[in-house]
Formats: sequence, structure tokens, C-alpha cells
Amino acid sequence: MTEQTKVDMEKIVSLCRRRGFIFPSSEIYGGLSSCWDYGPLGVELKRNIKQAWWQAVIQERDDMVGLDASILMHPQTWEASGHLKGFADALVECKNCHLRWRSDDLEGSNCPTCGGELTEPRQFNLMFKTFMGPIEESANVVYLRPETAQGIFVNFQNVLNTTRKRLPFGIAQMGKAFRNEITTGNFIFRSREFEQMEIEFFVKPGTDKEWFNYWVEERLNWYVKLGIRRENLRLRQHGKEELAHYARECSDIDYLFPMGWAEMEGIANRGDFDLVQHASSSGKSLDYFDNETKEHIIPYIIEPSAGVDRSALAFLCDAYAEEPDKKEIRVLLHLHPTLAPIKVAVLPLSRREPLAKLAKEIYADLRQGWMVSYDDAQSVGRRYRRQDEIGTPFCVTVDFQSLEDEQVTIRDRDTMNQIRVPITELKTTLQAKLKGEELFVLPPGGKIWKEGQNA
Ligand code: GAP
Repeated sequence: MTEQTKVDMEKIVSLCRRRGFIFPSSEIYGGLSSCWDYGPLGVELKRNIKQAWWQAVIQERDDMVGLDASILMHPQTWEASGHLKGFADALVECKNCHLRWRSDDLEGSNCPTCGGELTEPRQFNLMFKTFMGPIEESANVVYLRPETAQGIFVNFQNVLNTTRKRLPFGIAQMGKAFRNEITTGNFIFRSREFEQMEIEFFVKPGTDKEWFNYWVEERLNWYVKLGIRRENLRLRQHGKEELAHYARECSDIDYLFPMGWAEMEGIANRGDFDLVQHASSSGKSLDYFDNETKEHIIPYIIEPSAGVDRSALAFLCDAYAEEPDKKEIRVLLHLHPTLAPIKVAVLPLSRREPLAKLAKEIYADLRQGWMVSYDDAQSVGRRYRRQDEIGTPFCVTVDFQSLEDEQVTIRDRDTMNQIRVPITELKTTLQAKLKGEELFVLPPGGKIWKEGQNA
């Protein structure tokens, strides 16, 4: 474990609470077990993660399309998918303190809390049930989806017919999923309401192994590109006994969370299980006509399935750092600029006019392009620290000199280096810096040069 990975969960929870990333759900009523609310900064982080995923798996590819299926689906979906029968955990209850446990989470044969005797395991289905319409009877039972994947399978023909995509191609969607988990905990790692980002990639049988390996690499690289250190990621292949009922092969991308290695994303080869099941249950054909062989085939499916909340937790843990700063400690989040909730903070050195007017004009201009914050309270040193703690990559300081030379200072979160740039070049410079390009600006003309280039 490297120094920086030794962050404990309490520090992350406390930072998230204190700075408005994540709150317990319905906190004024004492909270609701394992449900969480994303505050003003958390919602930006989550949106940025989802946007980065959408861009990588749909926008930048020509073999993928998006979908947004409804959360409530025809109940037959869950019979065909195997969830009604098989989506269950073995649950045991302590006869003494009545706490309930997932039996596969337990190491010994007694209650981990009080040492009491445990009941025999019984199967507990993890799907949340509700009723469609005003009458609460079994004919009207519907389920909150426990995964987004099924919405994609049942729309396979619709997408095929309307987009004219040919194999191999994929459909991706993100959205809420619900599981009545027996054991929750570790903050947002395992909750009962969470968000998934799932890809179902349809391929010709026989090419599935190749595509499986491709997607494992592709998805692993996505996390690394967005700043997670490679040494904090590992691939873990599922043993035969561990495979889900639909999977021929599965590898997890694990992250080294504060509580240890745990799954962040799973990549499965689902074979033809889902299309065969839904075709047989619905009586509708879900096959594909192969123009080359002139045969009808059932595509195989490779499924990279990621959790938004688990990714958010991993990005936060990996970004968290404490550095000595004179007699104090500087807490900062080294979040990748793409994920940082606030990209730039505008800090006027004084609230007095005409300085404040100039700073507000700059603030209004930058907001057209990014989430920007304005902070004029307390010393500039404190304001830098506040921005460091929430991962803002750049601060723009407007000082009295700015009124005369029409230049401002850009201060870098990670290096704390400062450069002075003409206001006219501020946007271009920030744009390049947010993309990770190294630039400096030569005043007074404001011409921008790449580092290493002769002036
Ligand atoms: N369609 C396949 C599927 O749902 P999964 O391994 O059960 O596979 C995929 O879930 C991902 O969804 C996990 O890797 C995790 O990131 C996220 N996830 C699953 N259950 C979760 C929970 N209770 N809380 C938060 N995230 C969860």
C-alpha cells in the first residue's frame, strides 16, 4: 500500500459531510439506512463521472448507442432473467440479538456481534416489490429494477430495427437500481438505492472471448485515464463456483478501498443467456440475421457493468491527500480536472470597488463554460485551502494590480505554482490547463506558448 492509499473511510465520510458532497438520506428524521443524498458538490462529481463514461463509451465510438429504459418493467422480465428465482442471498438471524447477516459474509458459525447462535440460512430475494395501480394484490406486483441491464435486452430488437447497427455493437445506459441488501455499509459502497452504468455489447459467437478481453482492458484504462493509480486497481477473475447464473466468465475490476480490495466494476461474458430467455418468455424473435453467412444467430453479450457510487468513492479515496503546510496540514483532493465539481474559483483580494466589479465580470464570463465558484470571504490563503479540499484545479486571483495591468494570477492546486496572465487570455489558458496542457503566456501581447517552445 502506498502512503496515499492509507486514507481511512472516516476522513472521507467527514469531508463529504462537511463540504456538501454526500449526506445521509432524510437526515432530519434520523436518516434512512444505506440511502444517501448527493449534495451540491457530490451531484457535480457524479454528473462528471457519468458524462466522462458516456463520452468514452458512446460519444467517441461509432459502435455504441445509448438508451434510457424505465425503472419499472413488465414482471415477466424478472422471471425470464432468473431474478425472481435466483437473485437471493442466504440470510441467517442471531437467535439472541436478532441481527441478520448474509451467511457468505460470516467467517465463524456464530453471531459476529454477540456470539449468539444463528438460525439455518434461508433464501431472501433482494428485489424491492411494489404495486402498479390502486389495488395492492399479487396480480399488480411490479419490481424496482435491481440492474439496468434488462432494459437493454428487452429493447434489443427496437434498437436493431431503428439504428441499423450491425454486429459487433453495443447499447449503454445508466440509471438507478435498487437492491434490498441484507448487509450494507462502508458508506456509499453498498447501498439499497444506487446508480449503474452498464454496457451490453453484442458480438458474434466465437468472437466473445476476444471482445471480453478487449472490454476488460478498455474499462481498466478508463479509470487510470481519470486519475486512479494503477497500483490501486486489480483484476480478479471469478472462479467457477462464484459465477452468476448467466455468466460464462467474469472479471472484476477491484479498487483498494479503505476497507480493502473490493469490486468496483464487473465484466461478464453472458453468452446468449439473456436473448434466449427473453425470446422464449415473450414469444418474440430476438435473433439477428447475419448478412455474410445468411444465417439467423443469437448474439453473445459482453457486459461491462459499473457502479456510479462505487466509482465516486474510489475517485474520492484515490484523490485524497494530506500535506504538511507550515504548522498545519493541507487537505486536498487531487481529482482529475474532468471530474472536479468546480473547475475554477475566482478570488478577489478585496471586496472593494472597482476590484469586486472586475472579479464579478470575470466570474460571469467563466461560468459560461464551467462550474465556477466565487469566494471573497477571509484571507486568500484560507480560500485556497477551501478550494484544495474540494479539488478545484485552479484559482484565479484578482488583485489591485489587475486594475492597472489587466492581468490576473492563476494558481495551480497540485503544485501551488502561480502564473500571471492577461485577462483576455484567461479562458484559453484555463481551457488548455484543464486539458492538462502545459502553457505559459507572454505578456503584454498575451500570446500563448507551449512549454519548451522558443519565444
Ligand atoms: N448487470 C450485472 C450486474 O448488475 P453486479 O456485479 O451485481 O452486476 C454491477 O453489479 C455493479 O453495480 C457493481 O460492480 C457495483 O459497482 C454496482 N453495485 C451493485 N450493487 C450495489 C450496491 N448495493 N450498492 C452500490 N453499488 C452497487
